[in-house]
Amino acid sequence: MPWTRRHLITIEELSLAEIGQIHATASAFKKILQRSVKKVPALRGKTIVNLFLEPSTRTRLAFDMAAKRLSADVISFDAATSSTTKGETLRDTAQNIQALQADMIVIRHAASGSPLYLSRLLDIPVINAGDGAHEHPSQGLLDTFTMKEHLGDLRGKKVVILGDILFSRVARSNIHALTKLGAAVTLCGPSTLVPHWFTDFGVTVSHDLKSALDGAEVVMLLRIQHERQTSSHFPSLGEYTGMFGLNKTRASWLHPKAIIMHPGPINRGVEIDSDLADGERSVILEQVTNGIAVRMAVLYLCAGGQPENVTPTE
Ligand code: CP
Repeated sequence: MPWTRRHLITIEELSLAEIGQIHATASAFKKILQRSVKKVPALRGKTIVNLFLEPSTRTRLAFDMAAKRLSADVISFDAATSSTTKGETLRDTAQNIQALQADMIVIRHAASGSPLYLSRLLDIPVINAGDGAHEHPSQGLLDTFTMKEHLGDLRGKKVVILGDILFSRVARSNIHALTKLGAAVTLCGPSTLVPHWFTDFGVTVSHDLKSALDGAEVVMLLRIQHERQTSSHFPSLGEYTGMFGLNKTRASWLHPKAIIMHPGPINRGVEIDSDLADGERSVILEQVTNGIAVRMAVLYLCAGGQPENVTPTE
């Protein structure tokens, strides 16, 4: 089946086959990244603009790195010194970037729906690098790619997503990816941050940490998204940590071979203790590294490449 999508806006809209195509392409690019010459000419002559209007470390750098490994020219938009500070709209900003002959835009924005809005306005591919509390598709793709590397087929595997689900775009993208891949997903955290209506997504909702973690093969921690919350959802951070923070005792409830994940940034000592974040079961930095290959796959496919044309020979 050829790849036909020009934009990556959500995982919700991807088929299981498309997720498989992105993962297979990322796997081939990962082999290329392990060679002495890590660069391929796939996007030579193309210009990609990283339009980040919200802070980012991992996603912006990984998209930058991915574009460079594909030989594209990359321009990072600096929001603080741009004309958005003079009141220029997102529409005008994006249309000017297109008029400057960019070939693709990677956008992060605090407003849910911004990437979809631009994809309907522009003639060039738009990649969602995180929109409000809606979706963060490349994160969900790299997280499931990392899980598959450790666990193989995810069908029936127990995956717990623990923390602030309500305000998390990472949670939504992972829920869509994991349910399509057949994993048994449990969301856990305080009822104010993990409301019962999430069961409509085909997942289990639990407010009991011990039964949620019991035998789980994956636990993914999420930080509290203070920047998106307009009111207090628990009495204090200390009380949150006391009830839902992952520590050594609680990690012992997991499957003996369980992996510990976090999309970052981590708030050490709040949602996870440092010894676990840095411990042997943690794959947190592997997630970051896999983010390059997965984003290479996304950029390559949305620019018109086909999965079978990536051949990782020396
Ligand atoms: N995981 C993630 O989106 O991290 P950044 O906000 O640093 O990009």
